[in-house]
Amino acid sequence: MNKNVNIAIVGLGQVGIYLYNELKSKKREIEIKTGKNINIVAISAKNRNKKRRFKINKKIFYSNPLKIFKEKKIDILFESIGQSDGISKKIVEYALKKKVNVITPNKALIAKHGDKLAKLAEKNKVNLEFEASVAGGIPILRTIKEGLSTNKINKVYGILNGTTNYILSEMENSNETFEKVLQKAQKLGYAEPGNPKLDLNGFDAFAKIKILSALSFNTKISKNNCIMEGIENIKLQDIKIASQLGLRVKLLGIAEIVKNQLFETVHPCLVSKNSYIGNVNGVMNAVITEGRPVGESVLQGEGAGPGPTSSSLLSDLMSILLGNIKYPFGISSNKRKSIKPFNNNNYSNSLYLRFEVKDKQGVLSLITNRLSKFKISVKRIIQTPDKKNKKATIVIITHKTTEINVRNFLSIFKKNKNILKFPTLIRLYN
Ligand SMILES: NC(=O)c1ccc[n+]([C@@H]2O[C@H](COP(=O)([O-])OP(=O)(O)OC[C@H]3O[C@@H](n4cnc5c(N)ncnc54)[C@H](OP(=O)(O)O)[C@@H]3O)[C@@H](O)[C@H]2O)c1
Repeated sequence: MNKNVNIAIVGLGQVGIYLYNELKSKKREIEIKTGKNINIVAISAKNRNKKRRFKINKKIFYSNPLKIFKEKKIDILFESIGQSDGISKKIVEYALKKKVNVITPNKALIAKHGDKLAKLAEKNKVNLEFEASVAGGIPILRTIKEGLSTNKINKVYGILNGTTNYILSEMENSNETFEKVLQKAQKLGYAEPGNPKLDLNGFDAFAKIKILSALSFNTKISKNNCIMEGIENIKLQDIKIASQLGLRVKLLGIAEIVKNQLFETVHPCLVSKNSYIGNVNGVMNAVITEGRPVGESVLQGEGAGPGPTSSSLLSDLMSILLGNIKYPFGISSNKRKSIKPFNNNNYSNSLYLRFEVKDKQGVLSLITNRLSKFKISVKRIIQTPDKKNKKATIVIITHKTTEINVRNFLSIFKKNKNILKFPTLIRLYN
């Protein structure tokens, strides 16, 4: 790469505009550290006249990002539009084919098309970097690719979504409902005001676990059918009961090699209040890897927001400016294999089951008989009657059982006149 490096930023939203300002203010520092003189020669967003957090140079503004490459020589493209397909995919593919290095925080794009894009980058001998796509400012991807590169990692898991972690922590701290705390999160900018669905339903964490899993196990990004559950059904009541039991609810992403098979999942977990992961609260993210010979490694930090995200984007930039062409997933695409998926039916956990029932004789035995039919043994029962409304809450903690047993056990409760709502299930972690 020449001393003078031309940069284009497409997408000037929360991340793009912050990055734009960071690149401008750190130009000299970057030159001192890398010997390269960076220049932002093109920027693009949808709306030219939108009021933005930092002033932009309108002379280099493009409404159509594809036009940039026809008019300017670009060395490095930052894609921060954020679509899994559409213009994001188009512009990244276009850039890689034109031998332009690409840096992106777009987890949706990488989780869906990462394999194909990595191959394209390798073929054209340019870099495709996406550190900011997982866990905001935590340098977890480079840690796996470089720092831990000769270890055999067999498990990677953690809290990968700051919005949901904030909501769960805040419900416990403030004693407020999910809906109230979601509104707070939106006001604070932790959750998207319009559509926070992709954070809440586990999709965001799921895209991240797929990227982490591919990197950790040197595999193709899996297309497996996985258990993906979010936090939308977690009630304040569950958080309070969990707390009395010395537990805390956390949305965990987990990827593991089990008997040479790949297991990936995202779902709420009950973890001990005394565990490390049980004390990662608020918007914090944490990623834990287990590998040989290194053992367990933990990285914790702010998982979202333009500041931490820009920190990762700039670390990708520094890596490109300082280094050679690297494989986007740590090893050559040809060497990355697909692994047989683990059968989800055999996933096994202790369970927390909450039933809202009519306060009638025989209801508890209906539940426990059904449990024993599916060989699910009970560890603990907590029954709280609500005499006034002739209702009761029954919470059952079970011993370990498989997913197939749980599904079969729960199936009759879809329609049972004594069970007022479909039971809430939260799996206990370890
Ligand atoms: N926000 C975070 O904290 C965070 C953290 C980690 C990763 N990320 C990732 O970073 C990426 C960007 O997120 P964000 O929060 O910055 O999104 P955002 O605020 O919604 O910004 C999206 C930007 O894309 C522009 N855009 C949309 N369509 C376009 C088109 N056809 N051509 C050119 N520009 C177009 C928009 O233009 P206008 O401004 O004119 O509407 C806007 O500037 C996503 O992949 C996200 O997952 C975000």
